[in-house]
Amino acid sequence: MDVAPGIRHHPRTRPTESSPETQDPAIMDAFVIRGGKPLKGRVQISGAKNAALPVMAATLLSPGVHTLRNVPVLRDTITMGEVLQKLGARVELGPRLCKIDTTNITSVEAPYDLVRTMRASIYVLGPLLARFGNARVSLPGGCAWGPRPVNLHLEGLKAMGAALEIEHGYIVGREVKLKGTNFNFDVVSVGATAQLMMAAVLANGRTVLDNVALEPDITVLGEVLNRCGANISGLGTRRLVIEGVRELQPIDTTIIPDRIEAQTFLAAAAVTGGSITLESCDPSDMLSAIQKLEEAGCQILPGTNEVTITGPRRPYAVDVTTAPFPGFPTDMQAQMMALCSVAEGTSVITDTIYLDRFTHVPELARLGARIELKGNTAVVKGVERLSGAPVMATDIRASAALVIAALVAEGETRISRIYHLDRGYEGLDQKLVKLGASVERIRE
Ligand code: UD1
Repeated sequence: MDVAPGIRHHPRTRPTESSPETQDPAIMDAFVIRGGKPLKGRVQISGAKNAALPVMAATLLSPGVHTLRNVPVLRDTITMGEVLQKLGARVELGPRLCKIDTTNITSVEAPYDLVRTMRASIYVLGPLLARFGNARVSLPGGCAWGPRPVNLHLEGLKAMGAALEIEHGYIVGREVKLKGTNFNFDVVSVGATAQLMMAAVLANGRTVLDNVALEPDITVLGEVLNRCGANISGLGTRRLVIEGVRELQPIDTTIIPDRIEAQTFLAAAAVTGGSITLESCDPSDMLSAIQKLEEAGCQILPGTNEVTITGPRRPYAVDVTTAPFPGFPTDMQAQMMALCSVAEGTSVITDTIYLDRFTHVPELARLGARIELKGNTAVVKGVERLSGAPVMATDIRASAALVIAALVAEGETRISRIYHLDRGYEGLDQKLVKLGASVERIRE
């Protein structure tokens, strides 16, 4: 494997993000879960994948040794490490500490083989253009839940003066000199906001970005860049004003807790009628999900860096519509649907961010869930019990939904292809076992 000795790495062939097919039998790990045990105890939340990935890419903005603490060691962060290594960076990704040395960048090409496995690889485009004026980054291609365009990334960079071409499946920029611009996002995009923010910090002049994403991952990226000498104002509002600077200092930061992992555990505790405390998390980043879980009958006690949840005997149905932060996250839609599958009453769940993000529906149905899909809305008629069955994971959060459903299903559920889960959850099986669940990782 083409990784630095420092990268901790599962020796597995990489699957594609869009297609789970692979030749390597090692990636065919499965979970066998015996449901019916309420979760109890305390669990430590890992660093946020979606915050770590753009910060890792941002290390390209300045030469030197960057220090990132609390990066989760996951397939996706390992992939980002590999992308950076392809560019010439030295990367050490350990369980507590990630060191990235971007002094000698020798290439500006992010190859298809890596980008297709993780769309977030495209984050290197803005930093490469900003620091070197050159980039050759593969277009990511499709995704299991429909088209995921990157037009806003490209339009924003073009507005900053980058004459980008699409050549042989690659986005190519040559001898680009980025300059400040005014750019309005017609839809709120986490990825495009991070991309343009990273490009604008070293651009010549002032960039004004309107209708930006407010996700904590974005705000934190801006704060990290400001501590390195960038000049970004308006963080936490829909308008960012970025005065380009000549250079940045290396990054030294601690990645924020993973709010999606945390909320996944809350849903798992809720559905099993358990009582757990999440440590090292920030409840203020999870208010929309906390409110929905309270509506579903959970008792939730937020603390400063932790939150305790006690689930009801049986949850009540709740209606959920996903929206950009601070709305209900699309990354929790599938897990909430698993909860609603066993709720008392009928829930209506709409995803407004990704209209086709419902690959978990037929798999939940195999466990006995009654879900009718109409466009981007699922009507979930809660059943009293689910029954274990073999099911298949299809993406990160869909897999998490199947785990949640399996934890409450009668009998045994075998979830195949959990490499999807491993892309986004650090040691989920071990953490669940510590909370009293019966979860076994097997090789199929
Ligand atoms: C989105 C989620 C993010 C989640 C991630 C993975 C939002 C706003 N974003 O982020 O919370 O972690 O999926 O599940 O909830 N779009 C375009 N053109 C672009 C980019 C995006 O039209 O160039 C559209 C997308 O199709 C989508 C919306 O904008 O409908 C939000 O996309 P974006 O936030 O960029 O996606 P991710 O960064 O993947």
